[in-house]
Amino acid sequence: MKSITTQTIRKKKLKNEIITMLTAYDYPTALILDEAGIDITLVGDSLGMVVLGYENTTQVTMEDMLHHVKAVTRGSKHPLVVADLPFLSYHTGIYKTVKNAGRLIQEGKANAVKLEGGKEVTEQIQAIINAGIPVMGHIGLTPQSINQLGGYYIQGKTDEQAKKLLADAKALEEAGAFAIVLECIPTELSKLITENIEIPTIGIGAGPHCNGQVLVTHDILNLYSNKTPKFAKKYTDVHGEIMQAALDYIQDVKHKNFPSTEHVFHLKQDVIDSIYG
Ligand code: KIV
Ligand code: NA
Repeated sequence: MKSITTQTIRKKKLKNEIITMLTAYDYPTALILDEAGIDITLVGDSLGMVVLGYENTTQVTMEDMLHHVKAVTRGSKHPLVVADLPFLSYHTGIYKTVKNAGRLIQEGKANAVKLEGGKEVTEQIQAIINAGIPVMGHIGLTPQSINQLGGYYIQGKTDEQAKKLLADAKALEEAGAFAIVLECIPTELSKLITENIEIPTIGIGAGPHCNGQVLVTHDILNLYSNKTPKFAKKYTDVHGEIMQAALDYIQDVKHKNFPSTEHVFHLKQDVIDSIYG
C-alpha cells in the first residue's frame, strides 16, 4: 500500500493539514517529487502543452496519457498518483469511460483519475467509482472546454456562475469524488466552496483558502515559459539554466575545450604497440 492514499487525502482536511500537489510527466521528475515529499503527483493533460507542444489539451489522447503515466508511476513510491482522463475519453458512453479510467489504473498503474466538469459528469464519476477507481473532480476553468470558454479566463465571477460552481462542487462530492481541483476562480468563491463541502479542495489560481494547492511543475521551474499563467509562482529558472548549459557546451565544443583529459578513454600501451606494429 502507498503511504498516501485517497483516504489520507480526505483525512488531511479534517486534520487541517494542507495538501500539496504538483504535476510530473516523466520518471526523473516523479523521483524528485517523491523525494521532496509531495502528497499527490498529477500526470495532468497539461503535458500536451508543456511537453508535447500541442496547442491545447484537446489534442491529448489516451495513448499520450498512458505513455507518461507509466513513466511517472515507475518513479512514485510514496505520493498518490492521479492521472487525467483526456478530452473525450469520458463523454461517449459509460462503458468507454470506465474502460479508459481502468486503463490508467491497470496499464498506467495510477492510483486515481481526474476529470473535468460538474453536474454533467456525475454519472461518469459514479460509474468509475463503482469500478473501484477513485475520482478527483476539476471545476472552474476547465481547459478541455477551451473552445467553449473562448480563452483561459477566470471563472465564477457573476453570482449566477458562482452559485453554479458551488452546486457543481456539491454534486461532485455527492457523486463520490475524493477531492476537487478548483482552477482559476475568485478566492471568495473557493473559500465558500471549501467551507461548504467535506472533501478537500485543491486550488490552482484559486487563492489561499483551499485545502491544498497544485501547480504545473514546468511553470514553477520556468521550464516551458511561453504561456506561464499569472497565478503560477516561479521558484527557479530552468529555462535559463538549460540555455546557459547549451551555450557553454556549444562554445566548448567549437573551441575544443571539450572533451578534455578527464573525459577521454585510452587504449593500453600493449594494444597501441600491437596496432602500430
Ligand atoms: O493538467 C493539469 O496539469 C491540471 C492541473 C492544472 C490541475 O489539470
Ligand atoms: Na488537466
